[in-house]
Amino acid sequence: MASSLFFLLLLSLFTPILANNVSFDSASFSFSNLTLLGDSYLRNGSIGLTKETSVPSSSAGSVICNLPIQFFDPVTNTSASFSTKFSFSVTNQNSQSYGDGFTFFISPNNSSLGSTGGFLGVFNSINSTDNGSVIAIEFDTLLNEEFNDSTGNHVGLDIGDPLSIKTVDLGSFGVDLKSGNSTTAWIDYSNKDSRLDIWLAYTNVKPDKPIFTINIDLSKIFVEFMYVGFSASTEGSTELHMIRDWTFQTFGFPSLHLSSNATQNLTNVSVGTIPNITINSSNVSSRKRLSLALGILGPLALCLAFVLFMWVTIKKIIQLTKKKEGFASEVLKGPRKFTYKELSAATRGFHMTRIIGKGAFGTVFKAVMPGTGVTHAVKRAKQEHQCKSDEDRLIEAADSRLHGEFDKEAMVRLLLVGLSCANPNCAERPNMRKVFQILSGEAEPIPVPKKKPLLVFCSSASLSMREIVSDGEDTPPGLKTLTQIKID
Ligand SMILES: *[C@@H]1O[C@H](CO)[C@@H](O)[C@H](O)[C@H]1NC(C)=O
Ligand SMILES: *[C@@H]1O[C@H](CO)[C@@H](O)[C@H](O)[C@H]1NC(C)=O
Ligand SMILES: *[C@@H]1O[C@H](CO)[C@@H](O)[C@H](O)[C@H]1NC(C)=O
Ligand SMILES: *[C@@H]1O[C@H](CO)[C@@H](O)[C@H](O)[C@H]1NC(C)=O
Ligand SMILES: *[C@@H]1O[C@H](CO)[C@@H](O)[C@H](O)[C@H]1NC(C)=O
Ligand SMILES: *[C@@H]1O[C@H](CO)[C@@H](O)[C@H](O)[C@H]1NC(C)=O
Ligand SMILES: *[C@@H]1O[C@H](CO)[C@@H](O)[C@H](O)[C@H]1NC(C)=O
Ligand SMILES: *[C@@H]1O[C@H](CO)[C@@H](O)[C@H](O)[C@H]1NC(C)=O
Ligand SMILES: *[C@@H]1O[C@H](CO)[C@@H](O)[C@H](O)[C@H]1NC(C)=O
Ligand SMILES: *[C@@H]1O[C@H](CO)[C@@H](O)[C@H](O)[C@H]1NC(C)=O
Ligand SMILES: *[C@@H]1O[C@H](CO)[C@@H](O)[C@H](O)[C@H]1NC(C)=O
Ligand SMILES: *[C@@H]1O[C@H](CO)[C@@H](O)[C@H](O)[C@H]1NC(C)=O
Repeated sequence: MASSLFFLLLLSLFTPILANNVSFDSASFSFSNLTLLGDSYLRNGSIGLTKETSVPSSSAGSVICNLPIQFFDPVTNTSASFSTKFSFSVTNQNSQSYGDGFTFFISPNNSSLGSTGGFLGVFNSINSTDNGSVIAIEFDTLLNEEFNDSTGNHVGLDIGDPLSIKTVDLGSFGVDLKSGNSTTAWIDYSNKDSRLDIWLAYTNVKPDKPIFTINIDLSKIFVEFMYVGFSASTEGSTELHMIRDWTFQTFGFPSLHLSSNATQNLTNVSVGTIPNITINSSNVSSRKRLSLALGILGPLALCLAFVLFMWVTIKKIIQLTKKKEGFASEVLKGPRKFTYKELSAATRGFHMTRIIGKGAFGTVFKAVMPGTGVTHAVKRAKQEHQCKSDEDRLIEAADSRLHGEFDKEAMVRLLLVGLSCANPNCAERPNMRKVFQILSGEAEPIPVPKKKPLLVFCSSASLSMREIVSDGEDTPPGLKTLTQIKID
């Protein structure tokens, strides 16, 4: 198993790459994903940020996603780009009483709540003590002259304190933050271009032109791990700030690099079961050299890994099936079934150029699925049998006058019952009780013996892979069986 160890090593070398880009969607959130501070609450799939009350009062609240998100990678000295989208609505119970607004923020702290009023629930003082590291995009509904606000309907960028670096009045864009309309915001930051853009729309369609653009290098402000969330505040007003349908992602970290801290937990990336082999690298510079080497050897190693992966997977499947274990649970999560036609097309009719290996039990072909372009290894066994494609052939025996208008599974059952009742060996024929059970789906169809002349097939229930593939001569392609191996 030295080769599979090598493969596992390769895999574990590559997995830290996946650790940097993060992506999540609030649709998959549970309560444990969010920290609610101050007056915030969750209701009907939305996040409420400020107190709901008919009496004007002051309120501040924030909601923070608990996942520490990597914004800076000290090993490669790179910073993240990010992209977020959410919908919000700002409503007033008392139309005379508005203010102050809400923010989307990125903070090094997962537990600090800001003050009410113009501090928007995220800041606490004007001259901040946190080295300016809270980054907030404000959606401000009140004109605070002391904080350089332009109007009571603006978007702005704040770093470290509520004195905006830049604001944009929304009047000229036909957007009113206080309209009560559900409004969608997109915020994109490109680290490469050092640019932050914001789009706003009453619909779910991102407009061509951003309403706010600023050239700024946020990498100076990012620390390694930060938290993202929303905050809002009121002061003597009854404004409600609701957020929903939030997605967030970081991207832009280099693909090839090693981080000893592969601790980021991802929601959208699944790489199967990864053994926790740890790579010890004594210092950063050796890691850097290694990642440089990987940069050069990467494509080569990937090819190697792919070939090895298929080899190991095939070996594993043969092993597992020898032991008569269901490999579905071991190797795959829910295998997909392909028809003979699909596989034939994907392997160009089992063309010689697609052969990637030959074994005692059959020939392995590379299959590129039309449409998706996903690559699979397909093993073509040496003997006839097995299920899906034969089922397809079996179904051809159905009366053509039915024009295919029948339940396929029921038809297969019926035909299998018919065939087993026609077994020359009467001891193998099912009794009426069994026939009834098979037809009603209570029992599996009886496997039809292989030796039955002309039409040979099997039921998945009883033959082991070994029996299926061990013997035999070539037979016409239509009767061949196919074993699929899915590689994700
Ligand atoms: C809950 O949310 C749904 C969908 O956004 C909305 O149609 C419904 O009116 C809301 N219900 C309440 C009580 O706010
Ligand atoms: C949400 O919580 C679940 C369970 O605690 C966790 O598996 C998942 O990674 C969390 N997602 C985010 C984005 O924090
Ligand atoms: C990290 O990158 C920045 C530019 O993005 C550069 O100014 C700085 O010198 C780099 N630091 C190191 C240690 O390479
Ligand atoms: C905040 O982060 C610290 C680690 O920096 C962690 O120990 C703590 O549990 C987190 N608090 C919340 C509320 O997530
Ligand atoms: C976050 O802020 C709270 C309150 O301001 C403070 O007690 C805590 O130490 C801070 N945590 C970190 C990790 O900075
Ligand atoms: C903030 O700091 C500036 C100098 O950096 C100072 O002039 C100003 O008075 C300070 N403001 C407050 C409210 O402390
Ligand atoms: C701010 O950063 C400087 C170095 O850049 C550091 O010396 C100082 O301790 C930091 N202050 C706080 C409050 O983190
Ligand atoms: C609310 O949105 C609709 C379109 O969805 C728009 O016609 C209307 O003018 C908006 N209301 C305000 C006050 O902007
Ligand atoms: C992270 O995102 C960048 C694109 O910005 C991509 O090139 C890189 O491959 C991604 N890394 C992973 C592990 O997906
Ligand atoms: C890895 O994380 C640990 C704490 O989890 C930290 O002490 C260490 O400095 C980190 N190493 C690197 C290279 O980031
Ligand atoms: C990742 O999840 C594991 C448990 O599955 C947990 O122990 C660890 O703290 C999590 N790491 C981060 C960075 O959330
Ligand atoms: C590796 O994972 C196993 C469980 O999957 C755990 O028992 C073991 O402690 C882990 N080893 C390390 C070094 O994390």
